[in-house]
Amino acid sequence: MRKIASLNVVLGKALLLVLFFYGCQGAEKVDYQESPAETAKNLYIIHCSRCHGVAGDLGASGSKNLKLSSFSKEEIQYIIKNGKGVMPSYKDILNSDQKVSDISDHVLSLRD
Ligand code: HEC
Repeated sequence: MRKIASLNVVLGKALLLVLFFYGCQGAEKVDYQESPAETAKNLYIIHCSRCHGVAGDLGASGSKNLKLSSFSKEEIQYIIKNGKGVMPSYKDILNSDQKVSDISDHVLSLRD
């Protein structure tokens, strides 16, 4: 009887071990790579949200509400690169057309 009981304990431990390693394997499959859209959103939060807000409608420093803006993607790209009024130019900070393009897509996605 005692032998069976200890066998059960061993089996129980083995099962826990299997479950533990199975769980670890699952964790390894998590993909930490950002999609271009996520990268653009993070760049927007870093560079633009202090004036425009995360949702685009903060209006700090006299910035325009991006939710209500009617500029085309080309115009948004131009404004990001060259600035507008109080808004600084991001030509040297976001020195990649792809990044500027992806952020412009993010700005467009803020509209209702
Ligand atoms: C220092 C504050 C500030 C920051 C940071 C800033 N902006 Fe602006 N933004 C402004 C201001 C002010 C205006 C209005 C300019 C004007 O019309 O004179 C503006 C206007 C705009 C417009 C035009 C909106 C419209 O309909 O008139 C867009 C698009 C825009 N910003 C996008 C961005 C993006 C994208 C970023 C980040 C890369 C950014 N801004 C960072 C202040 C800022």
